[in-house]
Amino acid sequence: MSSPHLPLRPRAESMIFGIARRVESRACAKKGFWQGMTTSGQFDPRPRFLMCRPRHFAVTYSINPWMDPAAWHESGDALHATAMRQWQGLFRALHAGGASVELVEPQDGLPDLVFTANSAVVLDGRALLARFRHPQRQVEEPVFAAAFHALRARGLIDDVITLPPGVTLEGAGDCLWDAHRRLFWMGCGFRSGVEAREIVSAQFGVPCVALALADPTFYHLDTCFSPLPCGAVMYYPAAFTTEGLALIHARAAPEQRITLSPDDAACFAANAVTFGRAILLSSCSQTLRARLKERGYTVVETPLTAFQRSGGSACCLTLRLDYRLAVAMAAVPAAKAARRG
Ligand code: ARG
Repeated sequence: MSSPHLPLRPRAESMIFGIARRVESRACAKKGFWQGMTTSGQFDPRPRFLMCRPRHFAVTYSINPWMDPAAWHESGDALHATAMRQWQGLFRALHAGGASVELVEPQDGLPDLVFTANSAVVLDGRALLARFRHPQRQVEEPVFAAAFHALRARGLIDDVITLPPGVTLEGAGDCLWDAHRRLFWMGCGFRSGVEAREIVSAQFGVPCVALALADPTFYHLDTCFSPLPCGAVMYYPAAFTTEGLALIHARAAPEQRITLSPDDAACFAANAVTFGRAILLSSCSQTLRARLKERGYTVVETPLTAFQRSGGSACCLTLRLDYRLAVAMAAVPAAKAARRG
């Protein structure tokens, strides 16, 4: 794993992220957070993501309704080339925003390894390794475990933790950190088991709210739900059971709810990477873009349609390694101030 040579940043992207970064760094300077001190003593204030190049990405099996191996096979070479180009677009957009990216080495025969969001749940330097539901992805577990041990050896992660036997949890794909509420939202029903809730809560010392998912098309929480730093939550109501929706409504007041239309949900608009005040996603409607703009966000579209054939998009292709509870606590007043200003 290494951070590769940085590509030149396209000017428009740097401008957009320039705004996003200024907002974050003003808040940081004021509150003295976002120190980014790693255990190896290096000072690195940049947001850090884990990704995996799609060298071996393909749709060779079907474990969700988006995956059609026969359709992929028909134009596999062209789709693979598109995937490589689209992944590079996301990677460049993250770099343009000032992020650093750690890379897991792709492995032949593990086409879904590219979805690093599923590798672990990470907070405060602790990585709780995923356990997958389907055998097709269970073979990724030792690869991700080795990747996290290597990150620990480099001082980029402090602890690598394993789930108790029999508990299934597909990493941050089903367990999203809400920095505003200082809790995890967990999706369950299709991939992760509800019993993982207590473990997440105990391991990280924060609440974990389990939301039952209702529609196999939105089988991971990050396909239909996204907590934004200002406290708004963007979600597709039809993806949740009545009980799940009630739990969202109990914690997000009406003015904090951004509900997605079926069309936005179907282009995976919820599967976004939020980065300062920028929101990276594959595509979305003008209406959603305008609603996000009203709240001070800039939407950056970076097409990821080839990955949608596997049931994934921007958020699934990344894992944030540097979330800190202390930063979330300091960020709450700063986020409010940014909204007022
Ligand atoms: N094909 C993969 C699967 O079904 C896609 C995973 C997408 N990841 C995510 N975090 N939603 O497991």
